[in-house]
Amino acid sequence: MAAIDIDSNKFESLIRNLKLSGHVGFDSLPEQLVNKSVQNGFVFNILCIGETGLGKSTLMDSLFNTSFESTPSPHSLPSVKLKAHTYELQENNVRLKLTICDTVGYGDQINKDDSFKAVVDYIDAQFEAYLQEELKIKRALGTYHDSRTHVCLYFICPTGHGLKSIDLVCMKKLDTKVNIIPIIAKADTISKTELQKFKSKIISELQSNGVEIYQFPVDDETVAENNTSMNSHIPFAVVGSTDFVRIGNKMVRSRQYPWGTVQVENESHCDFVKLREMLIRTNMEDMREKTHAKHYELYRKKRLQQMGFTDVDSDNKPVSFQQTFEQKRSTHLQELQQKEDEMRQMFVMRVKEKEAELKEAEKELHARFDKLKKDHTEEKKKLEDARKKLEDDLIEFNRRKQQMTQSHHTLTLGKNKKK
Ligand code: GTP
Ligand code: MG
Repeated sequence: MAAIDIDSNKFESLIRNLKLSGHVGFDSLPEQLVNKSVQNGFVFNILCIGETGLGKSTLMDSLFNTSFESTPSPHSLPSVKLKAHTYELQENNVRLKLTICDTVGYGDQINKDDSFKAVVDYIDAQFEAYLQEELKIKRALGTYHDSRTHVCLYFICPTGHGLKSIDLVCMKKLDTKVNIIPIIAKADTISKTELQKFKSKIISELQSNGVEIYQFPVDDETVAENNTSMNSHIPFAVVGSTDFVRIGNKMVRSRQYPWGTVQVENESHCDFVKLREMLIRTNMEDMREKTHAKHYELYRKKRLQQMGFTDVDSDNKPVSFQQTFEQKRSTHLQELQQKEDEMRQMFVMRVKEKEAELKEAEKELHARFDKLKKDHTEEKKKLEDARKKLEDDLIEFNRRKQQMTQSHHTLTLGKNKKK
């Protein structure tokens, strides 16, 4: 059968622009897309990394203006654990399935070398679950609960002295796996001038260590200006609170101190509003998209390569999935055959060894049997001789006894005659 080869240039030249003479209706496609998305609902997964008690749960409550009712973590865990909770939220007619994953016991161990490991494993496990679903023959990606991490909020301790080594190591390990947004936690504990210096120190440390953090996209005109300006405010210095204070005629989320009140949503007090705008109101979809197109793609590529799949062969020629699969299959079968042969040889050898051992044992047994038999015959002969000797003795004894009786008898007869 002749192969059909469509020259893409020729194909393109077939495309003609036509003018519609009336309203057809496919301009409603964006609307259709919106309706479908709204109907399906949205999924967003946040990973909060930060030391125990840095205000992770409080910030989540503040961001989503609700109470997720989290419990404080113990400080004495031997290793870092990750705890994920999923919530169904609804705003107007838009449903959001939100998963918040928290690091429990992060930074509490004396040896913090492996603190990032649990986090990396968690992120990879979510990618792996998605990959496995994608590789199924009967996949259900429409109803599948996508648990891949869309953003990682990295809570920096407000020391004013730059990043700790655990922060740098962890962010470096994660920057190819997840969108990282660093934030300065409990920013109300730092003065305004210190905060500016602290922010620049953090940024320069991240840059000098080659840590790539998430940049709000500037390619979309509608948000480019705002996003560019927001990119320069990273890391956001945030404050969270579960308390409300009446200011004017409004109840506002605030933290009250003897010297004044910090309002969470006041832009001159902290960057909370900026974070909320960037994270939820403007770039949520971009993070979801980047997770799929950039981070998951990288994971998928690595995993498929690990499994032995490749797009090109050693001569840089394209290889199809089927070719790779068939080649893998034949090498696998060869290996299997080789293993089988090896096992068979080993089995034959073992059987021979066992046979030799058995023969040896049989020989020994025969020798012992022969010796026993010989001993037995000798013993029997000895006994036989002894019996014969006894019989001879008995005969001799009887003969003598008879002789004695006869001579006694003759003696008695002679005496009687003389009388
Ligand atoms: P674990 O889950 O136990 O690791 O703690 P967490 O990081 O979730 O901290 P959580 O939100 O439970 O807050 C711990 C304490 O810090 C609480 O007493 C909060 O009131 C306080 N806190 C939270 N956010 C802030 C903040 O922005 N500034 C200040 N000063 N305190 C805060
Ligand atoms: Mg918590």
